[in-house]
Amino acid sequence: MTKDLNFIHRFEPGNRLEAPPLLLLHGTGGDENDLLPLGEAISPGSALLSPRGQVLEHGMPRFFRRLSEGVFDEDDVRRRANELADFVEAARDAYMLAAPIALGYSNGANIAAAMLLLRPNVLAGAFLLRAMVPLSETPTAGLRGQPVLIVSGELDPIIPASNASRLAGILTQAGASVQHRTLPLGHQLSQFDLKVAQDWMKAVSQPA
Ligand code: MLT
Repeated sequence: MTKDLNFIHRFEPGNRLEAPPLLLLHGTGGDENDLLPLGEAISPGSALLSPRGQVLEHGMPRFFRRLSEGVFDEDDVRRRANELADFVEAARDAYMLAAPIALGYSNGANIAAAMLLLRPNVLAGAFLLRAMVPLSETPTAGLRGQPVLIVSGELDPIIPASNASRLAGILTQAGASVQHRTLPLGHQLSQFDLKVAQDWMKAVSQPA
């Protein structure tokens, strides 16, 4: 029996079987439509699963609560990361998908990082745009070499460079195969992010 798919979401079936499915996780104030063009540009033909965050901050959807910018309600991070992981598992059954690679931006990248740490078997990898450490204490998670690319902005006013580096260290220690790129950019996405993502996706989708 299929469990309920209890996140509002978009699902675009892929048309290239060998392309990994992508889990698209939007930033604060975004929704399930935002990252579909980016997902399609990064990995043409991939199935795209794109949920909407269930927390509202002044009407803006997010994936977990925060106390202020960059200060998270960590109990809520844990709860919501587990709920999102349950949704991904249910969606895999419903749509017959392989484990997806998460493509998350900002708040979406932070929930993806939390999922990697709390539910290490749910994602096949992650592409984290403007991510930061989501939890001050993390379990010694058993990631199994899943590829993770973190792309940070040198001029990002929200995320200090040291925080993104700390996240790279935590994920590496948890068993992920992490690359961390820092670009001369702010918090917003640019064409450079797209190029870096396309190159990384090509490299990780090569058959062994
Ligand atoms: C977060 O709350 O996840 C980060 O501060 C990034 C943001 O969404 O602004």
